[in-house]
Amino acid sequence: MSLVGVITGASSGIGQALTVQLSNSYSTLYICGRKLKSLQLTKDMCSASKAEIIPILLDLNDKVSIKKAAVEIAEKDSKIHLLVNNAGQSQRSLVKDTSEEVEAMIMQINYFGQVQLTKLLLPALQKAGNSRILITSSIVGKFGYPLRSTYSASKHALHGFFESLRFEEKKNGIFVQFLVIGRVQTNVSVNALTAEGETYGKMDKGQAGGISAEACAKKIEAALQSNRKEVLIGGKELLMVKFKKYLPFLFYKIAEKESNHV
Ligand SMILES: NC(=O)c1ccc[n+]([C@@H]2O[C@H](COP(=O)([O-])OP(=O)(O)OC[C@H]3O[C@@H](n4cnc5c(N)ncnc54)[C@H](OP(=O)(O)O)[C@@H]3O)[C@@H](O)[C@H]2O)c1
Repeated sequence: MSLVGVITGASSGIGQALTVQLSNSYSTLYICGRKLKSLQLTKDMCSASKAEIIPILLDLNDKVSIKKAAVEIAEKDSKIHLLVNNAGQSQRSLVKDTSEEVEAMIMQINYFGQVQLTKLLLPALQKAGNSRILITSSIVGKFGYPLRSTYSASKHALHGFFESLRFEEKKNGIFVQFLVIGRVQTNVSVNALTAEGETYGKMDKGQAGGISAEACAKKIEAALQSNRKEVLIGGKELLMVKFKKYLPFLFYKIAEKESNHV
């Protein structure tokens, strides 16, 4: 069977590693991002595979670009078996300092943009049948965290929207799976936005000590073989998700202690 996938945020980090990983099992992968050069690099990294890797320019902060990308994909393939909503923009700023523009931008990229793209690709996912939407969420999609207010809110919003979509689209053969990611060694903190929308530019200790993007991609591929609605990926930081659910008093004790250092 020839499988068709779409991966957003494929120009770096987790999306890039996942593209390489899935290029061995998918016949066509549409890889999306804002920088053609970086997407080309991802494509080159898949040269040992037989998959057709097609770079697609996509800016999730621009509705016209989202429409254009979706049309481009739909014109080439009427069936999509996998959509990985992976692109994302993190944040490093206090609520009291963060401008409304930055908040709106993070919500557009991390939430509304993903919703808009998914709705445009829904007919192709329905047509494929037995298809899947992956959502790259975060442990801060499960709890709030200092300096991440809007980022955390955008990831929480993804859970509400895409869980609803899972219920609605089950009869059409679409399954939604959440990847609740802890710390992965990527440039997510370097690329994060500050209060005024500048690039943060620093590698956080958390990311530096995280699992590799390649290890993360392997776990995502394994998740694709299962029907678990949520899959936790990362290291010991994932315990905080379990604590919040089963031992909330412990979660708040640790989180409040950590927050004192911010
Ligand atoms: N690394 C972690 O520790 C961690 C933890 C939890 C969750 N996550 C999530 O994992 C996902 C991937 O992040 P990463 O760690 O791989 O970081 P990354 O290396 O910074 O990758 C982010 C990706 O998102 C794309 N992107 C950013 N803004 C975009 C926009 N306006 N339009 C389209 N694409 C855009 C980037 O592509 P271009 O810049 O080329 O457009 C890039 O490919 C994100 O959703 C992030 O929130 C990461």
